[in-house]
Amino acid sequence: MNVTVFGTGYVGLVQGAILADVGHHVVCVDVDAEKVERLTQGHIPIYEPGLESLVRENFASGRLEFTTDSEAGVKHGQVQFIAVGTPPDEDGSADLKYVLAVAQTIAEHMDRKQIIINKSTVPVGTADKVRACITEKLADRGQGDLQFDVVSNPEFLKEGSAVADCQKPDRIIIGTENEATIEVMRELYAPFNRNHDKVIIMDVRSAELTKYAANCMLATKISFMNEIANLSERLGADIEMVRQGIGSDPRIGYHFIYPGVGYGGSCFPKDVQALIRASDNIDFDAKVLKAVEARNYEQKTTLFEKIARHYDNDLAGKTFALWGLSFKPSTDDMREAPSRVLMEALWQAGAKVQAYDPEAMEETQRLYGNRDDLTLCGTKESALKGADALVIVTEWQSFRAPDFAALSRELRQPVIFDGRNMFEPVRMIDKGFTYYSVGRQP
Ligand code: UGA
Repeated sequence: MNVTVFGTGYVGLVQGAILADVGHHVVCVDVDAEKVERLTQGHIPIYEPGLESLVRENFASGRLEFTTDSEAGVKHGQVQFIAVGTPPDEDGSADLKYVLAVAQTIAEHMDRKQIIINKSTVPVGTADKVRACITEKLADRGQGDLQFDVVSNPEFLKEGSAVADCQKPDRIIIGTENEATIEVMRELYAPFNRNHDKVIIMDVRSAELTKYAANCMLATKISFMNEIANLSERLGADIEMVRQGIGSDPRIGYHFIYPGVGYGGSCFPKDVQALIRASDNIDFDAKVLKAVEARNYEQKTTLFEKIARHYDNDLAGKTFALWGLSFKPSTDDMREAPSRVLMEALWQAGAKVQAYDPEAMEETQRLYGNRDDLTLCGTKESALKGADALVIVTEWQSFRAPDFAALSRELRQPVIFDGRNMFEPVRMIDKGFTYYSVGRQP
Protein backbone atom coordinates (compact mmCIF):
# COMPACT_ATOMS: atom_id res chain seq x y z
CA MET A 1 0.00 0.00 0.00
CA ASN A 2 1.21 3.55 -0.65
CA VAL A 3 1.39 5.37 2.67
CA THR A 4 2.20 8.98 3.55
CA VAL A 5 3.28 10.02 7.03
CA PHE A 6 3.32 13.69 8.04
CA GLY A 7 5.84 14.36 10.82
CA THR A 8 9.13 12.56 11.40
CA GLY A 9 9.19 12.80 15.20
CA TYR A 10 9.15 9.77 17.45
CA VAL A 11 5.79 8.47 16.35
CA GLY A 12 5.96 9.33 12.65
CA LEU A 13 9.47 8.09 12.04
CA VAL A 14 9.01 4.78 13.84
CA GLN A 15 5.62 4.23 12.22
CA GLY A 16 6.96 5.03 8.76
CA ALA A 17 9.95 2.71 9.21
CA ILE A 18 7.99 -0.30 10.48
CA LEU A 19 5.34 0.06 7.77
CA ALA A 20 8.06 0.22 5.09
CA ASP A 21 9.76 -2.79 6.66
CA VAL A 22 6.72 -5.01 6.07
CA GLY A 23 6.51 -3.94 2.44
CA HIS A 24 4.40 -0.79 2.26
CA HIS A 25 5.81 2.09 0.22
CA VAL A 26 6.11 4.96 2.69
CA VAL A 27 6.81 8.64 2.07
CA CYS A 28 7.56 10.68 5.21
CA VAL A 29 6.96 14.42 4.92
CA ASP A 30 8.45 17.00 7.26
CA VAL A 31 8.64 20.79 7.03
CA ASP A 32 12.15 20.75 8.52
CA ALA A 33 14.43 20.59 5.44
CA GLU A 34 17.58 20.01 7.47
CA LYS A 35 16.01 17.07 9.28
CA VAL A 36 14.82 15.56 6.00
CA GLU A 37 18.29 15.97 4.51
CA ARG A 38 19.89 14.28 7.51
CA LEU A 39 17.37 11.44 7.43
CA THR A 40 18.15 10.75 3.79
CA GLN A 41 21.79 10.42 4.87
CA GLY A 42 20.80 7.91 7.52
CA HIS A 43 21.17 10.23 10.53
CA ILE A 44 18.43 9.61 13.07
CA PRO A 45 17.61 12.64 15.22
CA ILE A 46 16.73 10.56 18.30
CA TYR A 47 18.34 7.70 20.18
CA GLU A 48 16.04 4.73 19.82
CA PRO A 49 17.30 1.12 19.83
CA GLY A 50 16.94 -0.57 16.42
CA LEU A 51 15.61 2.49 14.62
CA GLU A 52 18.73 3.56 12.77
CA SER A 53 19.29 0.24 10.97
CA LEU A 54 15.58 -0.06 10.20
CA VAL A 55 15.52 3.41 8.60
CA ARG A 56 18.75 2.85 6.67
CA GLU A 57 17.75 -0.54 5.29
CA ASN A 58 14.30 0.55 4.18
CA PHE A 59 15.61 3.81 2.77
CA ALA A 60 18.19 1.87 0.76
CA SER A 61 15.48 -0.48 -0.55
CA GLY A 62 13.45 2.52 -1.76
CA ARG A 63 10.41 1.63 0.35
CA LEU A 64 11.02 4.54 2.73
CA GLU A 65 11.45 8.08 1.44
CA PHE A 66 11.79 11.46 3.09
CA THR A 67 10.71 14.75 1.58
CA THR A 68 9.63 18.30 2.33
CA ASP A 69 7.40 18.25 -0.75
CA SER A 70 3.97 17.98 0.83
CA GLU A 71 2.13 18.01 -2.50
CA ALA A 72 4.08 14.95 -3.70
CA GLY A 73 3.47 13.40 -0.29
CA VAL A 74 -0.28 13.84 -0.46
CA LYS A 75 -0.42 12.52 -4.03
CA HIS A 76 1.62 9.43 -3.08
CA GLY A 77 -0.48 8.01 -0.26
CA GLN A 78 -3.68 6.05 -0.31
CA VAL A 79 -3.73 6.80 3.40
CA GLN A 80 -2.29 9.90 5.08
CA PHE A 81 -0.97 9.66 8.63
CA ILE A 82 -0.91 12.78 10.77
CA ALA A 83 1.90 12.21 13.27
CA VAL A 84 2.95 15.74 14.19
CA GLY A 85 3.42 17.15 17.69
CA THR A 86 0.67 18.44 19.96
CA PRO A 87 2.69 20.50 22.43
CA PRO A 88 0.98 21.97 25.47
CA ASP A 89 -0.05 25.61 25.06
CA GLU A 90 0.21 28.08 27.96
CA ASP A 91 -2.61 26.54 29.98
CA GLY A 92 -1.60 22.90 29.37
CA SER A 93 -4.21 22.18 26.67
CA ALA A 94 -2.97 20.30 23.62
CA ASP A 95 -2.12 22.76 20.86
CA LEU A 96 -3.59 21.55 17.56
CA LYS A 97 -1.95 24.03 15.22
CA TYR A 98 0.40 21.48 13.62
CA VAL A 99 -2.32 18.86 13.24
CA LEU A 100 -4.67 21.34 11.57
CA ALA A 101 -1.89 22.67 9.34
CA VAL A 102 -1.35 19.14 8.00
CA ALA A 103 -5.12 18.75 7.50
CA GLN A 104 -5.04 21.96 5.43
CA THR A 105 -2.13 20.67 3.37
CA ILE A 106 -3.87 17.38 2.66
CA ALA A 107 -7.05 19.19 1.61
CA GLU A 108 -5.05 21.53 -0.63
CA HIS A 109 -3.48 18.72 -2.67
CA MET A 110 -5.73 15.67 -2.49
CA ASP A 111 -7.14 14.59 -5.83
CA ARG A 112 -8.86 11.27 -4.96
CA LYS A 113 -10.55 9.58 -2.05
CA GLN A 114 -8.36 9.73 1.05
CA ILE A 115 -8.20 8.20 4.49
CA ILE A 116 -6.65 10.57 7.01
CA ILE A 117 -5.28 8.75 10.04
CA ASN A 118 -4.68 10.63 13.25
CA LYS A 119 -1.71 9.12 15.11
CA SER A 120 -0.89 12.16 17.21
CA THR A 121 -2.26 12.27 20.75
CA VAL A 122 -5.17 14.65 20.34
CA PRO A 123 -8.11 15.75 22.48
CA VAL A 124 -11.54 14.25 21.96
CA GLY A 125 -13.20 16.12 19.11
CA THR A 126 -10.04 16.64 17.06
CA ALA A 127 -11.14 14.30 14.27
CA ASP A 128 -14.25 16.48 13.91
CA LYS A 129 -12.05 19.57 13.65
CA VAL A 130 -9.81 17.91 11.07
CA ARG A 131 -12.91 16.87 9.10
CA ALA A 132 -14.35 20.39 9.23
CA CYS A 133 -11.05 21.90 8.15
CA ILE A 134 -10.74 19.55 5.15
CA THR A 135 -14.38 20.00 4.13
CA GLU A 136 -13.98 23.77 4.14
CA LYS A 137 -10.76 23.72 2.15
CA LEU A 138 -12.15 21.27 -0.43
CA ALA A 139 -15.21 23.50 -0.85
CA ASP A 140 -12.89 26.50 -1.43
CA ARG A 141 -11.13 24.50 -4.13
CA GLY A 142 -14.45 23.59 -5.72
CA GLN A 143 -13.70 19.93 -4.93
CA GLY A 144 -16.46 19.45 -2.37
CA ASP A 145 -17.42 16.05 -3.76
CA LEU A 146 -14.02 14.43 -3.06
CA GLN A 147 -14.56 11.74 -0.44
CA PHE A 148 -12.46 11.30 2.67
CA ASP A 149 -12.62 9.77 6.15
CA VAL A 150 -10.80 10.80 9.32
CA VAL A 151 -9.75 7.92 11.58
CA SER A 152 -8.37 8.02 15.10
CA ASN A 153 -5.61 5.43 15.38
CA PRO A 154 -3.62 6.30 18.51
CA GLU A 155 -0.09 5.08 19.12
CA PHE A 156 1.00 3.35 22.33
CA LEU A 157 4.76 3.04 21.80
CA LYS A 158 7.21 3.65 24.65
CA GLU A 159 10.46 5.52 24.17
CA GLY A 160 13.37 3.11 24.37
CA SER A 161 11.33 0.22 22.94
CA ALA A 162 9.44 2.12 20.26
CA VAL A 163 10.34 -0.15 17.35
CA ALA A 164 9.44 -3.37 19.17
CA ASP A 165 6.22 -1.82 20.56
CA CYS A 166 5.10 -0.84 17.06
CA GLN A 167 6.06 -4.14 15.50
CA LYS A 168 4.27 -6.13 18.19
CA PRO A 169 1.40 -3.96 19.35
CA ASP A 170 -0.85 -5.11 22.22
CA ARG A 171 -3.80 -3.58 20.43
CA ILE A 172 -4.57 -1.66 17.26
CA ILE A 173 -7.27 0.89 17.99
CA ILE A 174 -9.25 2.01 14.96
CA GLY A 175 -11.73 4.80 15.54
CA THR A 176 -14.14 5.02 12.62
CA GLU A 177 -17.60 3.78 11.75
CA ASN A 178 -16.94 3.64 8.01
CA GLU A 179 -16.82 0.02 6.78
CA ALA A 180 -14.63 0.74 3.75
CA THR A 181 -12.10 2.53 5.97
CA ILE A 182 -12.06 -0.38 8.41
CA GLU A 183 -11.16 -2.72 5.52
CA VAL A 184 -8.25 -0.52 4.42
CA MET A 185 -6.99 -0.16 7.99
CA ARG A 186 -7.12 -3.92 8.51
CA GLU A 187 -5.11 -4.44 5.32
CA LEU A 188 -2.56 -1.82 6.36
CA TYR A 189 -1.99 -3.43 9.74
CA ALA A 190 -2.41 -7.09 8.69
CA PRO A 191 1.37 -7.79 8.99
CA PHE A 192 1.23 -6.74 12.67
CA ASN A 193 -2.08 -8.40 13.48
CA ARG A 194 -0.87 -11.93 13.98
CA ASN A 195 -1.61 -14.74 16.49
CA HIS A 196 -4.91 -13.24 17.57
CA ASP A 197 -6.97 -10.28 16.42
CA LYS A 198 -5.55 -7.16 18.02
CA VAL A 199 -7.80 -4.76 16.15
CA ILE A 200 -10.39 -3.00 18.31
CA ILE A 201 -12.86 -0.96 16.33
CA MET A 202 -14.80 1.86 17.93
CA ASP A 203 -16.23 5.29 17.27
CA VAL A 204 -13.73 8.08 16.73
CA ARG A 205 -14.29 9.90 20.04
CA SER A 206 -13.83 6.75 22.11
CA ALA A 207 -10.57 6.05 20.25
CA GLU A 208 -9.34 9.57 21.00
CA LEU A 209 -10.21 9.22 24.68
CA THR A 210 -8.67 5.72 24.87
CA LYS A 211 -5.22 7.18 24.24
CA TYR A 212 -5.50 9.70 27.08
CA ALA A 213 -7.18 7.19 29.39
CA ALA A 214 -4.32 4.70 28.89
CA ASN A 215 -1.60 7.21 29.73
CA CYS A 216 -3.57 8.74 32.60
CA MET A 217 -4.25 5.28 34.08
CA LEU A 218 -0.52 4.46 34.00
CA ALA A 219 0.36 7.85 35.49
CA THR A 220 -2.24 7.20 38.20
CA LYS A 221 -0.62 3.86 39.07
CA ILE A 222 2.75 5.58 39.45
CA SER A 223 1.48 8.49 41.54
CA PHE A 224 -0.49 6.08 43.71
CA MET A 225 2.62 3.99 44.34
CA ASN A 226 4.68 7.08 45.08
CA GLU A 227 2.09 8.10 47.63
CA ILE A 228 2.16 4.66 49.29
CA ALA A 229 5.99 4.77 49.22
CA ASN A 230 5.97 8.09 51.07
CA LEU A 231 3.58 6.57 53.58
CA SER A 232 5.75 3.46 53.88
CA GLU A 233 8.76 5.54 54.82
CA ARG A 234 6.82 7.25 57.56
CA LEU A 235 5.03 4.15 58.86
CA GLY A 236 8.08 1.91 59.12
CA ALA A 237 7.06 -0.34 56.20
CA ASP A 238 9.01 -1.44 53.11
CA ILE A 239 7.45 -0.43 49.77
CA GLU A 240 9.30 -3.24 47.98
CA MET A 241 7.40 -5.79 50.07
CA VAL A 242 4.16 -3.90 49.59
CA ARG A 243 4.76 -3.75 45.83
CA GLN A 244 5.22 -7.50 45.61
CA GLY A 245 2.32 -8.07 47.95
CA ILE A 246 -0.15 -6.11 45.85
CA GLY A 247 1.34 -6.89 42.42
CA SER A 248 0.61 -10.57 42.93
CA ASP A 249 -3.08 -9.77 42.65
CA PRO A 250 -3.73 -10.13 38.91
CA ARG A 251 -6.28 -7.33 39.12
CA ILE A 252 -3.44 -4.99 40.13
CA GLY A 253 -0.46 -6.62 38.35
CA TYR A 254 3.26 -5.99 38.63
CA HIS A 255 3.58 -3.45 35.83
CA PHE A 256 4.00 0.25 36.47
CA ILE A 257 3.93 0.07 40.24
CA TYR A 258 7.54 1.02 40.81
CA PRO A 259 7.88 4.06 43.05
CA GLY A 260 10.59 6.53 42.19
CA VAL A 261 11.27 10.20 41.60
CA GLY A 262 8.09 10.90 39.63
CA TYR A 263 7.18 10.27 36.02
CA GLY A 264 8.67 12.42 33.27
CA GLY A 265 8.94 12.33 29.50
CA SER A 266 6.98 13.87 26.70
CA CYS A 267 3.74 11.98 27.32
CA PHE A 268 2.47 11.42 30.86
CA PRO A 269 2.94 14.97 32.20
CA LYS A 270 1.53 16.51 29.02
CA ASP A 271 -1.38 14.10 28.62
CA VAL A 272 -2.51 14.24 32.25
CA GLN A 273 -2.45 18.03 32.05
CA ALA A 274 -4.26 18.10 28.73
CA LEU A 275 -7.09 15.91 30.03
CA ILE A 276 -7.39 18.10 33.13
CA ARG A 277 -7.66 21.19 30.91
CA ALA A 278 -10.14 19.50 28.59
CA SER A 279 -12.26 18.61 31.65
CA ASP A 280 -12.05 22.15 33.02
CA ASN A 281 -13.19 23.45 29.65
CA ILE A 282 -16.44 21.51 29.93
CA ASP A 283 -16.83 22.39 33.64
CA PHE A 284 -15.97 18.93 34.84
CA ASP A 285 -13.67 18.73 37.84
CA ALA A 286 -11.22 15.87 37.13
CA LYS A 287 -10.32 15.34 40.80
CA VAL A 288 -8.33 12.12 40.41
CA LEU A 289 -6.20 13.49 37.57
CA LYS A 290 -5.47 16.67 39.52
CA ALA A 291 -4.28 14.59 42.47
CA VAL A 292 -2.12 12.44 40.16
CA GLU A 293 -0.46 15.55 38.79
CA ALA A 294 0.02 17.15 42.20
CA ARG A 295 1.62 14.01 43.67
CA ASN A 296 3.98 13.79 40.70
CA TYR A 297 5.00 17.42 41.03
CA GLU A 298 5.89 16.90 44.69
CA GLN A 299 7.55 13.54 44.11
CA LYS A 300 10.16 15.17 41.89
CA THR A 301 11.41 17.15 44.89
CA THR A 302 11.60 14.27 47.40
CA LEU A 303 15.17 13.27 46.57
CA PHE A 304 16.36 16.84 47.05
CA GLU A 305 14.53 17.03 50.38
CA LYS A 306 16.32 13.88 51.59
CA ILE A 307 19.66 15.32 50.54
CA ALA A 308 18.95 18.67 52.22
CA ARG A 309 17.86 16.93 55.43
CA HIS A 310 20.98 14.75 55.50
CA TYR A 311 23.19 17.86 55.32
CA ASP A 312 21.04 19.98 57.68
CA ASN A 313 20.10 22.25 54.79
CA ASP A 314 23.71 23.25 54.28
CA LEU A 315 24.48 22.30 50.69
CA ALA A 316 26.60 25.27 49.70
CA GLY A 317 29.97 24.10 48.40
CA LYS A 318 28.96 20.41 48.38
CA THR A 319 29.47 18.32 45.22
CA PHE A 320 27.12 15.55 44.13
CA ALA A 321 27.81 12.76 41.68
CA LEU A 322 24.61 12.28 39.66
CA TRP A 323 23.97 9.07 37.74
CA GLY A 324 21.15 9.22 35.19
CA LEU A 325 19.85 12.31 33.45
CA SER A 326 17.31 11.02 30.91
CA PHE A 327 13.73 10.67 32.19
CA LYS A 328 14.06 6.89 31.99
CA PRO A 329 16.63 4.36 30.69
CA SER A 330 17.26 3.64 26.99
CA THR A 331 16.55 7.15 25.82
CA ASP A 332 18.38 10.47 25.65
CA ASP A 333 15.13 12.35 26.23
CA MET A 334 15.22 14.83 29.12
CA ARG A 335 11.78 16.35 28.71
CA GLU A 336 10.22 16.74 32.18
CA ALA A 337 13.07 14.61 33.55
CA PRO A 338 13.24 14.43 37.37
CA SER A 339 17.04 14.94 37.08
CA ARG A 340 16.40 18.50 35.96
CA VAL A 341 14.28 19.38 38.98
CA LEU A 342 16.95 17.87 41.23
CA MET A 343 19.93 19.59 39.57
CA GLU A 344 18.19 22.95 39.56
CA ALA A 345 17.36 22.61 43.28
CA LEU A 346 20.95 21.61 44.09
CA TRP A 347 22.34 24.57 42.16
CA GLN A 348 19.87 26.88 43.85
CA ALA A 349 21.21 25.64 47.19
CA GLY A 350 24.80 26.37 46.12
CA ALA A 351 25.86 22.77 45.39
CA LYS A 352 27.79 21.43 42.39
CA VAL A 353 26.87 18.48 40.19
CA GLN A 354 29.15 15.97 38.44
CA ALA A 355 26.79 14.20 36.08
CA TYR A 356 26.92 11.08 33.95
CA ASP A 357 24.34 9.43 31.69
CA PRO A 358 24.94 6.71 29.08
CA GLU A 359 23.01 8.62 26.36
CA ALA A 360 21.86 12.06 27.51
CA MET A 361 25.16 13.94 27.83
CA GLU A 362 24.72 15.93 24.62
CA GLU A 363 21.17 16.81 25.56
CA THR A 364 22.31 17.99 29.01
CA GLN A 365 24.97 20.14 27.37
CA ARG A 366 22.36 21.57 25.02
CA LEU A 367 19.97 22.36 27.88
CA TYR A 368 22.40 23.75 30.42
CA GLY A 369 25.47 24.78 28.41
CA ASN A 370 28.66 25.52 30.29
CA ARG A 371 28.00 26.23 33.95
CA ASP A 372 30.59 26.33 36.71
CA ASP A 373 28.40 24.20 38.91
CA LEU A 374 27.91 21.39 36.36
CA THR A 375 30.62 18.99 35.23
CA LEU A 376 29.68 16.55 32.50
CA CYS A 377 31.65 13.34 33.06
CA GLY A 378 32.62 10.78 30.43
CA THR A 379 32.12 7.76 32.69
CA LYS A 380 30.08 6.91 35.75
CA GLU A 381 33.32 6.34 37.68
CA SER A 382 34.77 9.76 36.89
CA ALA A 383 31.58 11.43 38.15
CA LEU A 384 32.33 10.06 41.63
CA LYS A 385 35.76 11.61 42.06
CA GLY A 386 35.77 13.88 45.10
CA ALA A 387 31.97 14.06 45.32
CA ASP A 388 30.34 14.22 48.74
CA ALA A 389 27.70 11.65 47.81
CA LEU A 390 26.18 9.75 44.89
CA VAL A 391 22.64 10.44 43.72
CA ILE A 392 20.94 7.95 41.35
CA VAL A 393 18.04 9.35 39.35
CA THR A 394 17.60 6.98 36.38
CA GLU A 395 17.78 3.18 36.61
CA TRP A 396 20.12 2.43 33.68
CA GLN A 397 21.21 -1.23 33.52
CA SER A 398 24.86 -0.20 33.75
CA PHE A 399 24.26 1.26 37.24
CA ARG A 400 22.93 -1.99 38.70
CA ALA A 401 26.18 -3.64 39.77
CA PRO A 402 28.73 -0.93 40.53
CA ASP A 403 32.08 -1.61 42.13
CA PHE A 404 31.06 -0.67 45.66
CA ALA A 405 34.62 -0.69 46.99
CA ALA A 406 35.62 1.84 44.33
CA LEU A 407 32.51 3.82 45.13
CA SER A 408 33.49 4.17 48.80
CA ARG A 409 37.02 5.04 47.78
CA GLU A 410 36.09 7.77 45.33
CA LEU A 411 33.34 9.46 47.34
CA ARG A 412 34.30 11.67 50.25
CA GLN A 413 31.72 9.90 52.37
CA PRO A 414 30.00 6.60 51.52
CA VAL A 415 26.54 8.12 51.05
CA ILE A 416 24.05 7.18 48.33
CA PHE A 417 20.69 8.78 47.60
CA ASP A 418 18.88 6.32 45.36
CA GLY A 419 15.71 7.56 43.64
CA ARG A 420 15.02 4.19 41.96
CA ASN A 421 15.52 1.54 44.66
CA MET A 422 18.40 -0.11 42.83
CA PHE A 423 19.91 -1.83 45.86
CA GLU A 424 18.95 -3.66 49.05
CA PRO A 425 19.16 -1.34 52.08
CA VAL A 426 20.52 -4.04 54.44
CA ARG A 427 23.28 -5.00 52.03
CA MET A 428 24.23 -1.36 51.62
CA ILE A 429 24.53 -0.95 55.38
CA ASP A 430 26.72 -4.09 55.48
CA LYS A 431 28.96 -2.49 52.87
CA GLY A 432 29.30 0.57 55.07
CA PHE A 433 27.06 2.96 53.13
CA THR A 434 24.56 5.45 54.39
CA TYR A 435 21.82 4.59 51.93
CA TYR A 436 18.60 6.48 51.22
CA SER A 437 15.98 4.91 48.97
CA VAL A 438 12.29 5.44 48.22
CA GLY A 439 9.71 4.08 50.62
CA ARG A 440 12.10 1.76 52.44
CA GLN A 441 13.71 1.83 55.87
CA PRO A 442 17.41 2.76 56.04
C1 UGA B 1 4.35 6.39 27.71
C2 UGA B 1 3.45 5.13 27.68
O1 UGA B 1 4.02 4.09 28.50
C3 UGA B 1 3.26 4.62 26.26
O2 UGA B 1 2.35 3.51 26.25
C4 UGA B 1 2.67 5.76 25.40
O3 UGA B 1 2.48 5.38 24.06
C5 UGA B 1 3.63 6.94 25.44
O4 UGA B 1 3.79 7.37 26.82
C6 UGA B 1 3.07 8.05 24.59
O5 UGA B 1 1.98 8.53 24.88
O6 UGA B 1 3.67 8.36 23.56
P1 UGA B 1 7.00 6.82 27.68
O7 UGA B 1 6.67 8.24 28.00
O8 UGA B 1 7.97 6.54 26.60
O9 UGA B 1 5.65 6.01 27.27
O10 UGA B 1 7.61 6.20 29.00
P2 UGA B 1 7.20 5.12 30.11
O11 UGA B 1 8.04 3.92 29.97
O12 UGA B 1 5.76 4.92 30.16
O13 UGA B 1 7.67 5.89 31.43
C7 UGA B 1 7.10 7.13 31.82
C8 UGA B 1 7.63 7.59 33.15
O14 UGA B 1 7.07 6.81 34.21
C9 UGA B 1 9.13 7.50 33.32
O15 UGA B 1 9.59 8.70 33.91
C10 UGA B 1 9.33 6.33 34.25
O16 UGA B 1 10.49 6.43 35.04
C11 UGA B 1 8.08 6.42 35.11
N1 UGA B 1 7.70 5.14 35.74
C12 UGA B 1 7.28 4.10 34.99
C13 UGA B 1 7.75 5.01 37.12
O17 UGA B 1 8.12 5.96 37.85
N2 UGA B 1 7.35 3.83 37.69
C14 UGA B 1 6.92 2.77 36.96
O18 UGA B 1 6.55 1.73 37.56
C15 UGA B 1 6.88 2.92 35.56
